[in-house]
Amino acid sequence: MFNAKTYIQRRSELKKKIKNGLILFLGNNEAPMNYTDNTYHFRQDSTFLYYFGLDRAELAAIIDVDEDKEIVFGNDFTIDMIVWMGPQPTIKQHAAKCGVKITKPLSELETICTNAVKQGRKIQFIPQYRYDNILTIQRLLGISPKKVNDYASMALIQAAAEQRLVKSKEEIAEIEKAVNIAYEMHTAAMRFTKPGMYEREVAGFIEGLALSLGNGLAFPPIFSRNVQTLHNHYYGNKLKDGDLVVNDSGVEAVSHYSSDITRTFPVNGKFTPVQKFIYEIVLAANMTAINEIKPKQNYKSIHLKAAEVITDGLKALGVMKGNTKDAVEAGAHALFFPHGLGHLMGLDVHDMENYGENNFGYDEKTKRSTQFGLKSLRYARPLVPGVVLTVEPGIYFIPELIDKWQSEKKFSEFINYAKVNQFRKFSGVRIEDDIVVTNNGCRVLGKPIPKTVDEVEAVASDKI
Ligand code: GLY
Ligand code: MN
Ligand code: MN
Repeated sequence: MFNAKTYIQRRSELKKKIKNGLILFLGNNEAPMNYTDNTYHFRQDSTFLYYFGLDRAELAAIIDVDEDKEIVFGNDFTIDMIVWMGPQPTIKQHAAKCGVKITKPLSELETICTNAVKQGRKIQFIPQYRYDNILTIQRLLGISPKKVNDYASMALIQAAAEQRLVKSKEEIAEIEKAVNIAYEMHTAAMRFTKPGMYEREVAGFIEGLALSLGNGLAFPPIFSRNVQTLHNHYYGNKLKDGDLVVNDSGVEAVSHYSSDITRTFPVNGKFTPVQKFIYEIVLAANMTAINEIKPKQNYKSIHLKAAEVITDGLKALGVMKGNTKDAVEAGAHALFFPHGLGHLMGLDVHDMENYGENNFGYDEKTKRSTQFGLKSLRYARPLVPGVVLTVEPGIYFIPELIDKWQSEKKFSEFINYAKVNQFRKFSGVRIEDDIVVTNNGCRVLGKPIPKTVDEVEAVASDKI
């Protein structure tokens, strides 16, 4: 974790924005896999990490803004627990690390909340995503589980989102560490992958690297020859000579700041001419977007610019036709590029997604589109220095979607279906980098990961 000063300063900023009442923070608990003591990998809640930095299960905290008091709640380990888990810092020692002086056992959280409810004091909390914490809110505040998130505080969401949106130098350094681990993971995967292997052999190999170099993977990796399935978590296919394979994987640094990188590469180390042609369209979209990113630009316009580059490339391939801007405005390109250009990244790989994307990624001036493809853009607002985002265009040939659109003759003025059908088995290409917006543009984070055709072929053909 960072120095206590960082957390003291973050909480003091928050208190300036939330002017009264109590702010309630619930840390995460252990999550059982199949019985209580056999748990999933523990992951602390990111809001709790942001304001308190404490990476331990079964903690909660309150900021009493009216009385300017901060309290961390938790139970010290009993001797029984120490026998099984070794000596552990006390709650007081934990709290000191984030500059909180008052600690209390968890049972007192209930007393404080119940009294506050009786006195009609405002208690603000962020939306909850863990079912046990939803039940805790029910117990503490008397809100029915189904309604808990209806009572989440919009003022708190917006205050926390505004703070977390712009990353400090120390946060960017942590994200960069995570990208540098991803560099190791992605280059090793290119070298390790060979025709005849199962996807799971490489998925398991990169997971081991992520664990050995940091805090493990930031999300279940997408390692698949079926690039056209966007979030594919199946690893049972055999990789063939001539296949493209996608590796969309990122890691958490020990601090929990994440990376999210995608590379698509030929299993045998050499692109075919058509693979190279389509790869270079996606590469041009990725690089054009990166060149266009600068403060005040809104991310939606960058997404649309990338869509135009993809449309131009697909026109050159013969699968699209007509006026590029008209095709993009209509959404015809989304047959091939059905997702958003990118998302915020930080303590969460999709940063703050639990706050509700529309609460920080969009605003009155930038409304979320309902158009297929564009509606999946997670962040659309104007950029400011310090914002960290992914840039991840792709081109996919999804047979089921092609069939549906073709049967509806959808956008037949922009799509040459006879030609599209020649690529039904192509699968797809995605290229994803992590960038930080600077004062006059943006910077790609971390050690450059092979990206041009020559760079990728050089590494992917140098097998280990
Ligand atoms: N790994 C999912 C994504 O790139 O957003
Ligand atoms: Mn990704
Ligand atoms: Mn991503």
